[in-house]
Amino acid sequence: MPEDADRVHWGPKPGIGPGDSILGPLHGRRVLEVGCGTGRFAAHLARDHHAVVDAIDLSPTQHQRAQTRYGDIAGVRYLLGDAVTHLHTADPYELVFSVESLAYVDPHRALPALRHNLPAGGRLVFSVLHTDLDERGPSSTLAPREQHIRLKNRPPAPVWMWVLTPLLWQDLLDEAGFTVDHHDLLTVPDADNPVTYQLIQARRRTDRPHAAGRDSGASDGGA
Ligand SMILES: C[S@@+](CC[C@H](N)C(=O)[O-])C[C@H]1O[C@@H](n2cnc3c(N)ncnc32)[C@H](O)[C@@H]1O
Repeated sequence: MPEDADRVHWGPKPGIGPGDSILGPLHGRRVLEVGCGTGRFAAHLARDHHAVVDAIDLSPTQHQRAQTRYGDIAGVRYLLGDAVTHLHTADPYELVFSVESLAYVDPHRALPALRHNLPAGGRLVFSVLHTDLDERGPSSTLAPREQHIRLKNRPPAPVWMWVLTPLLWQDLLDEAGFTVDHHDLLTVPDADNPVTYQLIQARRRTDRPHAAGRDSGASDGGA
């Protein structure tokens, strides 16, 4: 069974990086978690901060786990499906957050859908992989790559992920109509663990997204 959460762990290990405070006021706020997995963070925000949370995941197994463990908590609703499709049809959220999940979705699908749903000023806070266990850093071109998820007692599972440089994420967000307020690198204080994540805090602008963005083959940028 998954561990319950008493804060959001943005990755790559519990306790690294800021906690819930970066999400701003949560009481009564309409929140979406994209790729909620076992559902522990959504449950925490509803139970401990009284947010009104929808938490969506594509995996029937994860959805069932979340529903079974946390489905009785007031203020949280677990949804099974594709977050992009949901964002196009759902009522607007005030805040969308995601831990290690947005990198599984093509940014050219995910970011326009997020812009479509969020109102002007609505916040998007998410963490994504930056450097993996094999010390492979992010790409400066917009293409998915095969990564291997290591699960306990199972062989590594191949998945496709968009592991992108900070500059490329910033360009993509800017093109989609978001302003990036904070962009941090989360590292483990452990010489043997090279894994790092990017933590991005953005806000939907009022103006229209750019018709054509900068070249997505841009060079790397610092966090
Ligand atoms: C690495 S897990 C992270 C789970 C959770 N956020 C956590 O930190 O424990 C990524 C999750 O994203 C989900 N996912 C991938 N693509 C998705 C999509 N298009 N819509 C909704 N969920 C998606 C996967 O099913 C998986 O549960």
